[in-house]
Amino acid sequence: MFEDFDQIKYDDIDDHIFDLYTERASAAGENLGFVDRTKDTIDILLPKSQTDLTIRQSISSLSSTTNTSSTGFVCWKSALLLADWILSDDSCPLKQLICSHVVLELGTGVSSLLASTLGPLTKQYVASDQKHLLKLMKHNFVENVTTTKYKSSTVEAPNNNPARQNVWPLIDFIELDWEYPEWGMEEFGQLTGSTTADVIIACDTIYNSYLIPYFVKTAKRMMGDCSTTIVSLQLRDDTVMELFLKECLDCGLKIWSIPETVLSPELRSGFVVYCLRVKQ
Ligand SMILES: C[S@@+](CC[C@H](N)C(=O)[O-])C[C@H]1O[C@@H](n2cnc3c(N)ncnc32)[C@H](O)[C@@H]1O
Repeated sequence: MFEDFDQIKYDDIDDHIFDLYTERASAAGENLGFVDRTKDTIDILLPKSQTDLTIRQSISSLSSTTNTSSTGFVCWKSALLLADWILSDDSCPLKQLICSHVVLELGTGVSSLLASTLGPLTKQYVASDQKHLLKLMKHNFVENVTTTKYKSSTVEAPNNNPARQNVWPLIDFIELDWEYPEWGMEEFGQLTGSTTADVIIACDTIYNSYLIPYFVKTAKRMMGDCSTTIVSLQLRDDTVMELFLKECLDCGLKIWSIPETVLSPELRSGFVVYCLRVKQ
């Protein structure tokens, strides 16, 4: 699959960033990438997959200075576009990556949009973020998850019919802070029986240069030789994007950018999706 993608090596970074920001950044600048930061409850329709969601956000917490990070209190657009692409397009290469695999999401945010829509396709889905977001994450998941056929030990699962339990995906929510990841990594291990995920997925988690090394190191620590990390980002600050790519390469990760011709038309305009793997 990766042969079809554009691999980015150290010497390619400048050209890659130039191309991205001249050819694809056009529609990105209209806002920072949030869906709507005026309302505590928003209705979202993923148009291609015809998936309806009602998401509860916390606008007052978004502007609060109490929490270390507050960006997760609202829903961001790249998650919505990524989910709709994977759900609606059978030729989307990411679909086969996540289906029936163990997936860890980093920086889920309160919407739990990917956990609710993609979680049911996986073998096991562990959504993670900082502790102060977990309550609203679980609330939104329970309100929006697209099936009742899942098991969970961290939220109340609706149906515990033991006869069918084994084929149903496990979907859980944990605290995993990239700056202090040990506790979350241990909980992931307890839930999955493995120290690594088949797939790590993260949307709009690269926006602050301080956090980049912590994010990349956490992702790398949760990857085995065959794992893939999918990072979907809105094109904002090009220097932050460059730092992220350099940090990945410095940490021994290979980077592929999914070409425009493969991405959905919506992601093609203002977004980039990377796949990362550990260098062998
Ligand atoms: C811009 S928001 C994106 C949220 C969500 N992925 C979405 O697309 O709606 C960035 C996310 O990264 C999370 N985050 C920031 N710093 C973090 C850290 N140190 N450890 C774990 N998550 C962190 C935030 O809590 C927030 O949920």
